Amino acid sequence: MRVPVAAANWKMNKTVGEALHFLELFLDGWEERSEAEVIIAAPFTALLPMRHTLGKRNIGLAGQNIFWEKEGAFTGEVSPDMLKDVGCTHVIVGHSERRRYFGETDETVNKKVAAALQGGLLPIMCIGETLEQRDAGKTLEIVESQMEKGLKGLNGEEIKGIIIAYEPVWAIGTGRNATPEQAQEVHAHIRELLAKTWGKELSAQTRVLYGGSVSPDNTLELMREVDIDGALVGGASLTPDSFKEIVFSAIKAKEV
Ligand code: PGA
Repeated sequence: MRVPVAAANWKMNKTVGEALHFLELFLDGWEERSEAEVIIAAPFTALLPMRHTLGKRNIGLAGQNIFWEKEGAFTGEVSPDMLKDVGCTHVIVGHSERRRYFGETDETVNKKVAAALQGGLLPIMCIGETLEQRDAGKTLEIVESQMEKGLKGLNGEEIKGIIIAYEPVWAIGTGRNATPEQAQEVHAHIRELLAKTWGKELSAQTRVLYGGSVSPDNTLELMREVDIDGALVGGASLTPDSFKEIVFSAIKAKEV
């Protein structure tokens, strides 16, 4: 059984004060839930104070980006060790906004994924097609190429625990989510690819999240699909109540 994941991607939102206020409300009445894994990808500046507030609670923290070198003259970058140091368990790699605005490529994604794993962080590797690519019938081809290049050179043992986030670019921040059927088709393909290249066991263990306009209203139907193991949530993760609802829907969807 794969434990479902509800991951918040706050992007460039929330000061330290706002992040802590979110936690105060989110944690109010919160009981540790083993049926789902909750991860919050916050801005770098908020990570350490959030870790202090979370204490030993079983809520993961993630960076939203990472650099592959260990240290040195790389102005503006943050290393795997630095993220570990502030209590991160995960890091988002290759988000489409980073690919679009900051020139990330499958090759740099590959270096970042490898460096994160090497540094003891679990990457949440984002992949997904643009609207043009979908309209041209190239979705599966694009996703396949992003998977192969992003995970190139890594063996099954190394990528154990990695999380894949399928985020169609046209669904991000648009209010237009992929239908459960559209997402399931791609997720099944991703799982097949994992099995083909890294083995059935790894494929059966790896969580594949859907992202793109996930909201409390559509989580349940998306997560009822057999190969959708959770959600990477942008806009709807910024308010504690709506993110909490998404966590509970994720649990509900996977109840047997
Ligand atoms: P959204 O963003 O939920 O606001 O569409 C998702 C993401 O970019 O990870």
